[in-house]
Amino acid sequence: MVELSPLRQDFVWGTATSAYQIEGAIDADGRLPSIWDTFCRVPGAIDNGDTGDVACDSYNRWPEDLELIKQLGVDAYRFSIAWPRIFPTGSGEVNEAGLAYYERVVDDLLANGIKPFVTLYHWDLPQALQDLGGWENRETAYRFAEYAAVVGARLGDRVTDWVTLNEPLCSAWIGHWEGRMAPGIKDHEIAVRVSYNLMLAHGLGVAALRESAPKPPQVGLVVNLSGIEPASTAATDIRAAQVADGHINRWWLDPLFGRGFPADMVEVYGVELPERPGDAEIIAAPTDFVGLNYYFRQIVKADESVPVLGFSQVPGPNVTHTMLDWEVHPAGLEELILRLAKEYGAEKIYITENGSAWVDQPDADFNVDDTDRTAYLDSHLAACVRAVEQGAPLAGYFAWSLMDNFEWAYGYAPRFGLAYVDYPTGKRVMKTSGKTYTALIKTHRNLRG
Ligand code: FCB
Repeated sequence: MVELSPLRQDFVWGTATSAYQIEGAIDADGRLPSIWDTFCRVPGAIDNGDTGDVACDSYNRWPEDLELIKQLGVDAYRFSIAWPRIFPTGSGEVNEAGLAYYERVVDDLLANGIKPFVTLYHWDLPQALQDLGGWENRETAYRFAEYAAVVGARLGDRVTDWVTLNEPLCSAWIGHWEGRMAPGIKDHEIAVRVSYNLMLAHGLGVAALRESAPKPPQVGLVVNLSGIEPASTAATDIRAAQVADGHINRWWLDPLFGRGFPADMVEVYGVELPERPGDAEIIAAPTDFVGLNYYFRQIVKADESVPVLGFSQVPGPNVTHTMLDWEVHPAGLEELILRLAKEYGAEKIYITENGSAWVDQPDADFNVDDTDRTAYLDSHLAACVRAVEQGAPLAGYFAWSLMDNFEWAYGYAPRFGLAYVDYPTGKRVMKTSGKTYTALIKTHRNLRG
């Protein structure tokens, strides 16, 4: 087992989920559709025709989930609020029942000594706002700030840890460039404008939370980064890796840390940014931490058949892949943590997601001895420890995910949970990985003395 003593005493041990992936109850208590409800109805959009209509039914089974979180023994639970439960039509009247639901979740967590880490946007834009242009429309960023202010005012006396957006890369590039996620648009010019407005929304959201929350909030953005390596030493592949790094990593980090959107990438995209005076400062508003979601490394080669970007990914030699074909490469996590600290000067970093999907084999009682997931957890925590030993300000780790859930366009087949969910009955059973995580947390707590 990984040696955890180098981690700080107040290291935050957590686990994470997101609203659309677990809640179900899509029309309960005034909720109206999000772009994911719409996208799930597009034939062929989601593997196996799956939808988030029921998911883990967490909206109704919250007490069971709370038990699971307690059983895990974590310090913190990162979950997201469904914007369409708070503003079902995207603006105008606040839906009290939606706020009341999350208030209960927060209160239950706090009553059990578990810190809520609240993500405001984990991809479920109210469909009503998509109908007005979605993230391509600058106005959506202002609607986000209004939503952030309402939630901040209501929960900000109890919640201190906030994430504005989860992974703007996925919203922008996968949702609007590749079209594999909601809203399923395939247009790189739209995608670039969307990426801009998302970063603006983040900055406006930071300000809105600081103004509205009664307790000084700790606010951050969550980005998903990948270590990028060129497939060879050929100049073309090295250039491809620079573009990939720009597209995947620098495009988000540079503006966040006050360097503006990278000029080389603006040139690659060939799209004029919808900039207005003052935006850069809003986007670079000081945050309290940066959240890093880490899953895999990418090895890239020059590929002229790929429009605009000119690179594609190649499989690495002799590496293990998860069931989603994601490369298992813990050293990439160590590198990215150090890069955030050294190159960008990040003063506080959380791993807000990290985990892996495997084909689980439950026994008759739904026990799962998931050695692959357990090994992934162990090796990635070891990478965190190595980064800390080199001076990185790592403040916590959130395992993705508390339980198996709706894995977006892949549907329910890929299971990321520390707990197994038997979808027909909704039963949750802790896997070996979850039990191992609990043991690790206990070991570290004992070190705290
Ligand atoms: C991340 C998402 C999260 C989950 C994991 C596997 O990109 O933030 O919701 O789907 O991947």
